[in-house]
Amino acid sequence: MSKLYEPISVGSLEMGNRFVRSATAESLSDGEGRPLLELSKTYCALAEGGVGLIITGHAYVAGSGRCRVGMSGMHDESLISPWQNVTAAVHEAGGKIAMQINHGGRQCDPAAVGGPLLAPSPISLNADAPRPVELNERDIVGLIRAFADAAGRVREAGFDAVQIHGAHGYLINTFNSPASNWRRDAWGGSLSRRLRFLEEVAAAVRDVVGTDYPVLIKLGAVDFVRNGLTENDGVEIIRHLADMGFDAVEISGGIGQGSTRAGILRSDQEGYFLPIARKARYATDLPIILVGGLRSRERMEQILDEGSADMVSLCRPLIREPDLPNRMRDGQERATCISCNQCRPREGELGISCHYRGPDTSGESD
Ligand SMILES: Cc1cc2nc3c(=O)[nH]c(=O)nc-3n(C[C@H](O)[C@H](O)[C@H](O)COP(=O)(O)O)c2cc1C
Repeated sequence: MSKLYEPISVGSLEMGNRFVRSATAESLSDGEGRPLLELSKTYCALAEGGVGLIITGHAYVAGSGRCRVGMSGMHDESLISPWQNVTAAVHEAGGKIAMQINHGGRQCDPAAVGGPLLAPSPISLNADAPRPVELNERDIVGLIRAFADAAGRVREAGFDAVQIHGAHGYLINTFNSPASNWRRDAWGGSLSRRLRFLEEVAAAVRDVVGTDYPVLIKLGAVDFVRNGLTENDGVEIIRHLADMGFDAVEISGGIGQGSTRAGILRSDQEGYFLPIARKARYATDLPIILVGGLRSRERMEQILDEGSADMVSLCRPLIREPDLPNRMRDGQERATCISCNQCRPREGELGISCHYRGPDTSGESD
C-alpha cells in the first residue's frame, strides 16, 4: 500500500493518512473573526475529500495581529462557541482539524488593525510599507499571553490540535530573523536570544493546553532575504523544537508570498523546501510535515519513502480540488493546480477560489 494512505499519530492526534491541508487564509470570517457558514462548508468538503488533517487559515490571537478584514479570529472567549460548531461539523464529516494561530506583526493591513503595526524592531517590510513600532517588554509579555489564551480556546472549541504560525514574515518569524530583529536586549542578538519569543510562546501555550494536546509549528526555516534566516539557521531552529515542547514541525519559508512559488509544472520543481527537510531529518525526531509545491502522487510517495517527511501538506491544489486525496487514491496522478497564484481573494471580495479555466493537466507527464 502507498505510504500516503498509511495512518500516523502525532501525539494524541490520529490521522487516517499522510495528507495535510496546509493553513490557507480563506477570508471567510466576519468582521469579528467569527467563521461564516461558507467556511464550515469548505472544511467539510475537505474532510469528505479525504485529507487526513485540515489546518485552518491563520487566526489572530489579538486585534493588533489581525492581518486583514475577513481573517479568522481566536482572540476572545466569544469565539469559542462559533468555532465549536465548525469542529463539530468537521468531525461529523469524518475529518480532523487543527487551528493555526498567528499574530500578523508588521505585515498586517493598518486598516484591519486600527493602530500601529507591531514588530521586534522598527524596520519596515519594504520601502512602501509603514514603519512598525518596536515592542516594549510589557507588550511582548502580553502577546505571549495572547498566544497562550488563544491556544486554550482552540482546545476548548474542539480542535484536534493547534498550530503556531512561525513562518512567512509574521510576528514570530520577525523575532527569529536577524533581518527584522535588531534588538540588543534579551529578545534579540544571537539566534538563541532571537528564539526566546518563540520559546516563551511555546511554553505558555503548553502550560494552558496541557501535556496531552498536540501543538504543531509551521516554521519559516529560511527567509530568502538579505541578512535573513538561512537554511542552516532553519535546521538549527528545528533542532530545538522538541525541547520547546512541539509535537511536529511543518517546514516552510519565505517572507509574505515568498512561501507560494508560482508555476510548479515539473516534478523537479515540487517540494521546494525538501533540501531543508532532508537536513532536518538528522536534527530532530519530531514528525516532519513538508509543504511547498507538492503536486504529483509519485513525488509525494518518493518523499515519504525516502523518509525526509512523514506527512505532505498542500494548499493551492486543495483550493482547486478539495477531494484530491480521494482522487489520488482512485488513480489520479497529479493535481490539476498550475500554481498561478490567482486564488487569493480579489479586491473587495471575500473568499478564495481557483480561477484557472485551462485544460485539465492531470494526465500530463513531466
Ligand atoms: C490563498 C492562500 C492563503 C494562504 N494562507 C496561509 C495561512 O493562513 N497560513 C500559512 O501558514 N500559510 C498560508 N499560505 C501558504 C500555504 O499554506 C503554503 O505554505 C504555500 O501555498 C505552499 O504550498 P502549495 O504549493 O501547496 O500551495 C497561503 C497560501 C495561499 C495561496
